[in-house]
Amino acid sequence: MRDSEGSGLDQGLAQYGDNAFSSFLRKGFIKGAGYSDDALNRPVIGVVNTGSGFNPCHGNMPQLLEAVRRGVMLAGGLAVDFPTISIHESFSSPTSMFLRNLMAMDTEEMIRAQPMDAVVLIGGCDKTVPAQLMGACSADRPAVQLITGSMLTGSYRGERVGACSDCRRFWALYRADQLGETALAEVNEQLVASVGTCSVMGTASTMAILAEVLGITVAGGASAPAVTADRMRIAEASGRMAVEAARTQRTPSQFLSRRSFENAARVLLAIGGSTNGLIHLCAVAGRLGIDLDLHAFDAMGRETPVLVDLKPSGRYYMEDFHAAGGVPALLAALRPLLHLDALTVSGRTLGALIQSTLDAKRLFSQTVIRSLRDPVYPEGGLAVLRGNLAPAGCVIKPSAASPHLLEHEGRALVFEGLEDLARRIDDPSLDVLPGDILVLKNIGPKGAPGMPEAGMLPIPRKLAREGVKDMVRISDGRMSGTASGTIVLHVSPESAAGGPLAWVRSGDRIRLSVRRRELLWLVDDAEIERRRASAPIEAPSASRGYRKLYLEQVLQAEKGVDFAFLRAPSAAETPR
Ligand code: FES
Repeated sequence: MRDSEGSGLDQGLAQYGDNAFSSFLRKGFIKGAGYSDDALNRPVIGVVNTGSGFNPCHGNMPQLLEAVRRGVMLAGGLAVDFPTISIHESFSSPTSMFLRNLMAMDTEEMIRAQPMDAVVLIGGCDKTVPAQLMGACSADRPAVQLITGSMLTGSYRGERVGACSDCRRFWALYRADQLGETALAEVNEQLVASVGTCSVMGTASTMAILAEVLGITVAGGASAPAVTADRMRIAEASGRMAVEAARTQRTPSQFLSRRSFENAARVLLAIGGSTNGLIHLCAVAGRLGIDLDLHAFDAMGRETPVLVDLKPSGRYYMEDFHAAGGVPALLAALRPLLHLDALTVSGRTLGALIQSTLDAKRLFSQTVIRSLRDPVYPEGGLAVLRGNLAPAGCVIKPSAASPHLLEHEGRALVFEGLEDLARRIDDPSLDVLPGDILVLKNIGPKGAPGMPEAGMLPIPRKLAREGVKDMVRISDGRMSGTASGTIVLHVSPESAAGGPLAWVRSGDRIRLSVRRRELLWLVDDAEIERRRASAPIEAPSASRGYRKLYLEQVLQAEKGVDFAFLRAPSAAETPR
């Protein structure tokens, strides 16, 4: 335990100017809840309870809490759960990303403020795991991440469906008049067949897997669906592991290194993971003073094939990934490309964990997790582009794009923001052709604000009805990890912060070359300067509250959209 601050309930005392009295008072209050001295003298394991009626992705929280408590007790500890903010994608306005840093601050401060020797963080929905990892890294107390687990898939007229790649596919059919209202309501009942996180390789699944690769979950902890016995056993094991972490006092900064994050980046590429995963990884690494190099990430992408065949790029769902062996099987397949000496919270190296998987002889022939010799896609699932439209970079997910659009030049059709998009996209008189490039401004970190997942602009209705399924789309926003298409995201600097995107006009020509990793705005420098001078950008601001803090402090995508003052000193940066 940490000598300087005490241990168990005696650490982090409330300040009354008399520590003995603080301890006496605290003990009195907790005894009021019926605890015995025997219980109170055990290692205290905080358990972050993110159950919320507004968060169905965490709908198994009561069962998880019970299983974690059981694990803690079996290992000789005392589990004490406490609430923090919980964020669900569909119930957070303006966006869940706007609130992620608030949840990270809540998590960090409540871990710091309350007396615990280790903490189990229970999260699942997209922003919750990144927020918890960010908070736990900054608090730097022994921590174990427990994932809520994915939802089950449903069945619509004999077809297997799951949130949310299929949500978007059926919505596109509805927009193209190929699905009626009744059928739409019917499929809506089946898309989310149980509590738990989205069932494809969206952001939640991506972050669950990256947490396991970082070594902060129990081995095999990422993939079990929410309502399964496996998930409950993982919860119990997480409680046990937290007691062990309390004993060793192994904190995140002691086992998470640059090599751990390079492993996570490698796996992000190999799973065809969500583009959001890159933002969150930059944010978590930044909390430990580690600046991820996007150039190096892109270079890694050229030598890392996609091995996991999950939607939206592939065919299967998370429950299939779990049945195929989950992260342990994936790591065994990727072993030649990983830093095997990276440590985990257990004190064992990633290489040792992989060796255990191999020794157990649990691997078998299947088609969900492929080998390096027989990948799903020959190169990594994400590519980083640069050019005069995105001087600090932007990303595309080639594995989810249309191959014929990866090298494309076209005329820009510009939307100034979300309102402009909503007003004009379905206008029958919209001047748009299938080869045009749709550009959406003002959806970056400051822009909307909160970097909404609006980067997958809908195909204009008049083209959708003609059968156009994909177009190049460019924005400073994000897209859901469950979405697909030829979509360039995270253009940085964003338009609302004075990035070049702010001055693009309809009719300009833009060239996308994924092969050359380029995004070029084919307008000469003198014209760009003329436009800049004639229409200076006024950064968005707010007069009070969290929105004011957010707008003043938020960083761009390549810095994880974190707040400048929350990154560790060596990774800190001034907001644009
Ligand atoms: Fe929670 Fe998709 S909405 S994981």
